[in-house]
Amino acid sequence: MKRIVVIALAALGFVVAATVGRYYLVGHGGGTSSSSSVSIGGPFQLVDHNGKAVTDEDFRGKYMLVYFGYTFCPDVCPTSLSIVAEALDQLSPEELDKIVPIFISVDPDRDTPESLADFVPHFHEKLVGLTGTPEQIKAVARAYRAFYAKVNEDDPDGNYLMDHSSITYLMGPDGKYAAHFSHGTPPAAMAKRLAEIL
Ligand code: NI
Repeated sequence: MKRIVVIALAALGFVVAATVGRYYLVGHGGGTSSSSSVSIGGPFQLVDHNGKAVTDEDFRGKYMLVYFGYTFCPDVCPTSLSIVAEALDQLSPEELDKIVPIFISVDPDRDTPESLADFVPHFHEKLVGLTGTPEQIKAVARAYRAFYAKVNEDDPDGNYLMDHSSITYLMGPDGKYAAHFSHGTPPAAMAKRLAEIL
């Protein structure tokens, strides 16, 4: 009984958080607003798909196109990363040079640097995969107001899915929020907006 109440409260908390997040991120500005009253992004300490420790400062001077997901994701992440890749392919070489696409895992228990190294090249040669400790992932997700939660944890085979928000964030060369793209933004629309900003 107690456990059910706890789960219900946790689920309610997630829904409230997701709703608030949706309001801030999607509820105003039409999905690509360049000004925001809420701060998105911030410092992070993670490890890249080559096993190298990185921080947000390593990306200064470049735009970061950031997406949160996990390599076991059956549909949403592959779709979103394919859209990012298609959009990047529509940029000029000069524009492409100014931007680093980044995939941050919300499943640090399974997404090692090695599994990210197998995953990211399927989408784009420039895509950087980042993972970290559960605490590091929690911190970066909180900074970006990205939401994630394990589902069907009771699978006897240990398989599980993750619920997660699906927003692509564009951060400026100074590390500050520049724009975001809601789930399902077509590649051409994303490329057009990127080219305007870059
Ligand atoms: Ni996903």
